[in-house]
Amino acid sequence: MSSETKQRDAFSSTLAALMVSLGSAVGLGNIWKFPYMTGTGGGGAFLVLYLFFVFMVAVPIMISEFVIGRRSRMNAVGAFRKLDNDPRSPWAGIGFMGALAAYLIMFFYSCVAGWVYYYTFKAATGVFAGITADKAGAMFGSAIGAGTAGGSFFSAAVLSPIFWQVLVLCVIGAIISLGVSSGIERAIRIMMPILFILLIICAIRALTLPGAAEGLRFLFHVDFSQITPSVTLAAMGLAFFKLSLGMGTMITYGSYFTADSDLSTAPLKIAIADICVSMLAGLAIFPTVFSFGVEPGAGPGLLFITIPLVFSQMPLGQVLLFAFFLLTSFAANGAMLSLVEVPTVWMSEEFNMPRKKAAILNCVIIAVVGVLAAGSADSSSFFGGIKVMGRGFFDLFDFISSNICLPLGGLFIALYAGYKMKKEDFRDELTNHGRLHNEGKVVLIRFLLRYVTPLLVLIIFLNSVGVLKF
Ligand code: PFF
Repeated sequence: MSSETKQRDAFSSTLAALMVSLGSAVGLGNIWKFPYMTGTGGGGAFLVLYLFFVFMVAVPIMISEFVIGRRSRMNAVGAFRKLDNDPRSPWAGIGFMGALAAYLIMFFYSCVAGWVYYYTFKAATGVFAGITADKAGAMFGSAIGAGTAGGSFFSAAVLSPIFWQVLVLCVIGAIISLGVSSGIERAIRIMMPILFILLIICAIRALTLPGAAEGLRFLFHVDFSQITPSVTLAAMGLAFFKLSLGMGTMITYGSYFTADSDLSTAPLKIAIADICVSMLAGLAIFPTVFSFGVEPGAGPGLLFITIPLVFSQMPLGQVLLFAFFLLTSFAANGAMLSLVEVPTVWMSEEFNMPRKKAAILNCVIIAVVGVLAAGSADSSSFFGGIKVMGRGFFDLFDFISSNICLPLGGLFIALYAGYKMKKEDFRDELTNHGRLHNEGKVVLIRFLLRYVTPLLVLIIFLNSVGVLKF
């Protein structure tokens, strides 16, 4: 993305800008996080809540980010300073918090991407052929270094997930510093449809397994008794995380949109495409969970345990399994490029540092602190016993970023677009200087941004920390 950030006019069409935004949105969030959180959140009711937050909270915030980005043609920090005509605009704080959120996400995201790289490598060796559910669970445990608490740090079991995580960061650092991000992102745009087709194959295979109907029932049966304040916050946090919102990524991408793109419809298209990918992952995973007797609330291992099972007894299964993990690693790389970009831009602008240097420095910081995530994915992992705010590091990084930083960032972005930005400027951006007849939409979106979206975020937030009770 580096070269594209500099040459904003390189994005000649709306479709190109849409695809780049989708490249940031689609990632491990769809394939790994969405299914496992739906599993731990109780199935259908979580799904309904998630969809509600996508349309009532995430889409209006994405519209705001795009409007702020295209109006200013700047990154998340510069955008507020320019729009406010004030180099000391306090709203620029949104951009700084975004950089913090990007670090926190990268600490655990690069770790999970490391597991995906490892599974890609393992799939190439054919070890998953004819695997059973128990074996798949045990393999995941050893992949993440479960059961290493109290042992030596310098054992292969502890160092292996760290090695794969560092490899991921070397790849990302190399892509950014070689300045080939735009080429890679073009490749991701080709890979994404292939991943989509593979997910469809996966889902069809899963749906034809014996007992698949039980998985569908789990995914679509809505039982609101499962819903607690913390599950509600998690569903909202997932909507932010999934669509890369609340930290300025989409402000930067908004700056790529051409003057004739309709910013009122682009976020809807992105959200719907993103939901399709997540649903396909759900349709591949939950029938398999019930067919093979895996626990739906198994947590972060769900993807890694079920997908080898889907392909285990199928013609060409091992080739497809390898392709699946390879393409998932591409999707993860695309999302990570957009994540590392946030602190890289901040650092290079704030400290006047060359981009390359900032990118490499950030990858090193992420690798060093990321060791804490790699060593705490399971409570029996090497660092698994250390709890901060009742959580291990892996969960803590995820919790603070998805459930605190992103919703707070999103809240302020909605307030900025709804109250601080001039109504005429907002209308001007959404109607493309009066060329689009979007008047009705402008009124609706502004209403949501002023009275619905921020209130929802605030209420869910306060409810989950116990300040409000209902
Ligand atoms: N949306 C990405 C995913 O679902 O995998 C994760 C992500 C990327 C979050 C970029 C935030 C971001 F800025």
